[in-house]
Amino acid sequence: MNYPFEVKDLPYTYNALAPYLCEEILKFHHDKHYVTYVNKLNEILKNYKNLQNMTLDELLIQTEEIPNEIKTAIKNNAGGVYNHELYFACMNSADSELPTDKLALAINSSFGSIDNFKAELTAAAVNQFGSGYAWLILSNGKLEIISTPNQDTPISLTVNPLLCIDVWEHAYYLQYQNRRPDYVDNWFNLINWSYVGARYMSLVKEQA
Ligand SMILES: [Fe+2]
Repeated sequence: MNYPFEVKDLPYTYNALAPYLCEEILKFHHDKHYVTYVNKLNEILKNYKNLQNMTLDELLIQTEEIPNEIKTAIKNNAGGVYNHELYFACMNSADSELPTDKLALAINSSFGSIDNFKAELTAAAVNQFGSGYAWLILSNGKLEIISTPNQDTPISLTVNPLLCIDVWEHAYYLQYQNRRPDYVDNWFNLINWSYVGARYMSLVKEQA
C-alpha cells in the first residue's frame, strides 16, 4: 500500500474493548489522532511524486531517499500511521487469552516466563518518559523489549515489531487520567495473541 494512504477501520467496534478501554477513548484515538496522521502524511506526499510509490515501511526505512526538508515530518507522520495500525491490530476483546505454540516457547525462552515478560514490558511502558510506545520486537531471531519516544518506530532491516502499547496520554487519559500503570496493567487483557503469534510465525519463516 502506498500514497494516498487509506484509513484502516478498527478491527472491532468502539465499545469492544470495554471495560479496559472505553468507547470514547477509541473513538478519539482512531477517528481523530490516527486519522490525522494519515491525512498529514498524504498532505506531505502530495508534492513529492517520487515518494508516492513507496510503502509505509519503505518511507520509514529508506530515509536516504527522503529530502531533508520533510525528513522529520515523514518520520513523525508515517510513524504515527504505522504505530497506530499495529497498536489497534494487537488488541481484541478475547479476555484472558495467552500466547500459544512457538511464540509462547520463544517468550519463555527469552524472558523466563510470561510473568517476567509482562513485568519487563510494563516497566518499559511505564518508564517511557513522556509520549511514546513500548514494544515486543524480533531482532536477529531473538525477542526483546524496547521503548521509543514520540512516533519513532523500531523498524529497520533487522528489527521487526510484533506488538506495541501506545503510552501517549491520548491513549488512556480520558479513562485513567494520570494512572498510566493502571492502563498498562489492564491493556494486557486486550492483547490479541492470535494476531501477534501469526506475525511472529511469518517473520520466523521469512528469516529462516
Ligand atoms: Fe496514539
